[in-house]
Amino acid sequence: MSAEIEIESVLVENRVFPPFENLVKHANISGMDAYRALCDEADRDPEAFWARLGRENLVWAKPFTQALDESQAPFFHWYADGEMNVSANCLDRHLNTPVADKTAIIFESDDGKVEHVTYKQLHARVCEFANGIKALGYKAGQRAVIYMPMSIEAVVAMQACARLGIIHSVVFGGFSSKSLHERIVDVEAVLVITADEQVRGGKKIPLKPAVDEAIGFGGCESVSKVIVYRRTGTPVSWAEGRDLWMHEVCAGQAQTCEPVALSGEHPLFILYTSGSTGKPKGVQHSTAGYLLWSLMTMKWTFDAKDDDVYWCTADVGWVTGHTYITYGPLAAGLTQVVFEGVPTYPDAGRFWDMIQRHKVTVFYTAPTAIRSLIKLAESTPAVHPREYDLRSLRILGSVGEPINPEAWMWYYKQVGGERCPVLDTWWQTETGAHMITPLPGATPLKPGSCTLPLPGIAAAVVDETGEEVERGKGGFLVIKRPWPSMVRTIWGDPERFKKSYFPPELKGWYLAGDGAQRDSDGYFWIMGRIDDVLNVSGHRLGTMEVESVLVAHELVAEAAVVGRPDETTGEALVAFVVLKRPLPQGDEAVAIAKQLRDWVGKEIGPIAKPKDIRFGENLPKTRSGKIMRRLLRVVAKGEEITQDVSTLENPAILQQLSQSV
Ligand code: WTA
Repeated sequence: MSAEIEIESVLVENRVFPPFENLVKHANISGMDAYRALCDEADRDPEAFWARLGRENLVWAKPFTQALDESQAPFFHWYADGEMNVSANCLDRHLNTPVADKTAIIFESDDGKVEHVTYKQLHARVCEFANGIKALGYKAGQRAVIYMPMSIEAVVAMQACARLGIIHSVVFGGFSSKSLHERIVDVEAVLVITADEQVRGGKKIPLKPAVDEAIGFGGCESVSKVIVYRRTGTPVSWAEGRDLWMHEVCAGQAQTCEPVALSGEHPLFILYTSGSTGKPKGVQHSTAGYLLWSLMTMKWTFDAKDDDVYWCTADVGWVTGHTYITYGPLAAGLTQVVFEGVPTYPDAGRFWDMIQRHKVTVFYTAPTAIRSLIKLAESTPAVHPREYDLRSLRILGSVGEPINPEAWMWYYKQVGGERCPVLDTWWQTETGAHMITPLPGATPLKPGSCTLPLPGIAAAVVDETGEEVERGKGGFLVIKRPWPSMVRTIWGDPERFKKSYFPPELKGWYLAGDGAQRDSDGYFWIMGRIDDVLNVSGHRLGTMEVESVLVAHELVAEAAVVGRPDETTGEALVAFVVLKRPLPQGDEAVAIAKQLRDWVGKEIGPIAKPKDIRFGENLPKTRSGKIMRRLLRVVAKGEEITQDVSTLENPAILQQLSQSV
């Protein structure tokens, strides 16, 4: 944990928006009293609260007798002696109800083709694929890596794994073959499920070749099959005996498949995310606790109703896509939109057009998307949301990064027509589902605040010694009690799990890694990471990760990466680089910067490419040789240096580093 909290955005925001009467009236949590009653119930006897929710909301093959087992804290176990299956809880539970014939997924492809799949049909497709995987000999506890485009097939693949107890690890399609390789090796995957290509913004982007490359790097002997979903039909190279088409794996399989009854603690998935040091960590989630909170937050945060048309624009490669596309909405029996493409293709009105055509009622997206669409809408009137009929909307959500009050207001007014609450949901890959968020039928909103914790979530802001800080003062965001959907461990590295999330000075509380403060109403204001993790377009990136890739390049001697606030992407990466050769100038500097950017793209993925690369003969260091990152952050922002630089070994270097290539 970093000793000092360096937080700049002290938001002063006085506007308060009370909940809308029509939402309050029908809300699943109606009014602040109902919210407080649930909080009180949870505070009085947390275990009884979670036991009640578990019993009432999940379908059990064998009921649990104990909700929480703390004997191995911080490795908390939930519902461990109960047995259930996540896929059965998302699909089978609806089969003998009116939901069976309801549309589960409205899929829209990049080029605008629409396909509807009912719950019954989705169940059949998941069963076929699960049977196909089973026929290949795979079974519960083994790991499958999924590297797929946004598609019904990706949801089917995840659900089929869940049905068999195969632990999936989805790798975002924007990650490079190197990143993919790292994850295949780390989870010792037996199976990789991919597609020939993905299509985004009118462009075809290969996926299968990246899998071939990843496996070709070596060390992937555990992988016995690669199953390929044919998305575009572009020819791909084929390893006979290893590669199989998804449609052939499914062909002739029965449309029912007995879901495997698993312990509530059986790992459901591993999802890699960036930490402050070293390699990305494999965040491991469970079966029952994870699904319970995914479902509860659908009911509470999104106020899930039978006639909703829900749309979460995330990719299944991120936790938001896991919880709020593949699992939560299906468990809740909702109709949801799944979208293959990007918000700006064929034009920046795509989101609004889709909301209008599919009559979306609940819309969940990221501040980065909103900020980029604001710019485009304000410059091109034809793609402004006011040109579309968005009256179907009732709830708007935001996720992944702080939403600045200006973007919040625009979203609220221009998209929501001042009729829909904007829910700023704070959570993380590690928390599994929402933690601090407004409730649409209860919480008065303040633009820029994620407001109050959900019932059962014991969030607090503390100092280094674990003392709660005064209102209005910044500190570390912690969660003082375990909750069912919390990260169980870091795959293969339990020590790192303990060290990252449960530092000894914090009395066994979960340390989120975010700075926060509470205002006089107790509202939480997230103030950014306290570690070296950056948030670029809502994607988490470790500065160390990018630095180690840069120094692995043959031209680079040393590198430091910091974040800089960015109007559109929230934060942008700025890399300070010392080359093994003389300082490049002009075109040469431009060419080397491009080379380094491409290198990072190849090693990690395009999202990790630094926006700005600066060359210098050295980096600013203290006399003891420590890189002064704080100073680099100031330089990156182009601000005047007001700090004392007398401890710097070579102050002149700052001048060099302030020049962009
Ligand atoms: C940030 C995404 C402010 C935060 C679900 C957190 C937020 C990290 C918000 C987790 C929000 C997420 N307001 N910051 N509403 N939501 N964050 O694991 O820094 O990709 O720690 O999970 O994103 O990112 P992750």
